[in-house]
Amino acid sequence: MVYVIDFGSQYSHLIGRRVRALGVEATLLPFTAPLSQLKNAKAIILSGGPSSAYAVGAPSYSKQIFTLGIPVLGVCYGMQLMAQQLGGKVERGKKGEYGPAILKTVRSSRLFVKVPKQSHVWMSHGDIVTKLSAGFSLIAKTNNSPDAAMANEKKKLYGIQFHPEVEHTDYGTMILKNFLFTIAKCEKDWNISGKAEEKVAQIKKTVGDAQVVAAVSGGVDSTVTAALISRAIGSQLTAIFVNHGLARKNEPTEVRAILSQLGCRVRYVNAKKQFLSKLRGVTFGEQKRKIIGGEFIKTFDRAVKQMKSRPTFLAQGTIYSDVIESAAASSGKTARVIKSHHNVGGLPKHLKWKLIEPLRDLYKDEVRELGEALGLPRALVWRQPFPGPGLAIRVAGEVTPEKLRIVRDADQIVRDEIQRIKKEDEFYHYFAQVLSQKTVGLTGDERAYAYPVVVRIITSSDIMTAEWARLPHEFLARLSWRITNEVKGVTRVLYDITSKPPATTEWE
Ligand code: XMP
Repeated sequence: MVYVIDFGSQYSHLIGRRVRALGVEATLLPFTAPLSQLKNAKAIILSGGPSSAYAVGAPSYSKQIFTLGIPVLGVCYGMQLMAQQLGGKVERGKKGEYGPAILKTVRSSRLFVKVPKQSHVWMSHGDIVTKLSAGFSLIAKTNNSPDAAMANEKKKLYGIQFHPEVEHTDYGTMILKNFLFTIAKCEKDWNISGKAEEKVAQIKKTVGDAQVVAAVSGGVDSTVTAALISRAIGSQLTAIFVNHGLARKNEPTEVRAILSQLGCRVRYVNAKKQFLSKLRGVTFGEQKRKIIGGEFIKTFDRAVKQMKSRPTFLAQGTIYSDVIESAAASSGKTARVIKSHHNVGGLPKHLKWKLIEPLRDLYKDEVRELGEALGLPRALVWRQPFPGPGLAIRVAGEVTPEKLRIVRDADQIVRDEIQRIKKEDEFYHYFAQVLSQKTVGLTGDERAYAYPVVVRIITSSDIMTAEWARLPHEFLARLSWRITNEVKGVTRVLYDITSKPPATTEWE
């Protein structure tokens, strides 16, 4: 096991992901985790972070990790902390170094085997190491970092000021490979099918002959959870699919078809009318979210009560980033931008089930790989994320059947067109939004008052920030032409040219 100790860098996740992609099991631990948790470590990576190692109260970790004989790689802040704790010096650099830099190796090191003398690396720091600790040698530098990498080969302690986990570091993967396999002698013990088997065995053991219930929305996480649990316990799982009438076009039929093939029991609840009536007259997005959330719990609860045997477990599709971001949010100890997650800790108090969350330790792309390994359709597994409250927040103002029809049909056209130009993988989100303010247009010779449709297409790596997609005018023209021609009641199409920030992804 490789432990990545997280000091709050936005890239800490990525280190874990890269290690796993090289076939080695990796776990991210907060810097507050006790030393005893590192017992079975084959290697330790200290992540970057936004603090200064010399600042009072800066995040730190027990110095003992450097004496355990376990190879340690400090990245950015991790390197600075290592230097400072072992008697070196860290100071504010004259100039910060943010973005690409040229790394020049100055001495051979096991860390740099097969890395050329000069290569591009990605930097993001204001502080630098100005004096190395005893027993360390300088192994590389850049223009702004005289000590860009250091090594104590004998003790297997290494520090690098740049980020090997970021794509822009040309030989980042090679450096991680050298650290993991040549220096730390890690074995390949991680692959998704092995993980699936392990999880199936665990689920069988945990559940025994009890019953499990899961809410399945058709999203990637909940569907993969249901598929995995079905593989383990078949009909002891009941998947409840509440159709709130706010899904994209054809989705409910597709979800039902997929669920019917999993081998679990399926309960379909048609609650379209109920949700629409609760949303009548509601115009504010946050209020829509609350109503939909509350109505969903009630409906789900009612469906469970109708089951023949009482379930002991509730399965949830919580994934690794949910767990880590929620932990960071509740500890307040890392500098990461925080997203709150309804999955973690969000279970209503009156529902007294035990939780099983088999995807808790998987990154999103690993969940997708697992889905594929379990035989789920590629189109489902790699689909763009879709908000829980569905089209209700993509309809401005009151949710009416007419606006839902318009947004659904326009959205389908956006999806068709993106698929036609084979750009599904390029955009994080591509969707239609309908506005509430009718505007004038012409249909034939008549003046017509109709709802405008906004098309939003964005690129993003983690949706914390996003850029609007620069698409050819011909493509946008075709979208506009198709939407106004094919969707009744639309005479105007707008393209949203705002990034996040200042805008958000969704309009409400
Ligand atoms: P914003 O609009 O904040 O959205 O940029 C960021 C991401 O979150 C999704 N989103 C939601 N997902 N329930 C969800 O499950 C919600 O209420 C909700 N609101 C926004 C949004 O689609 C984007 O991926």
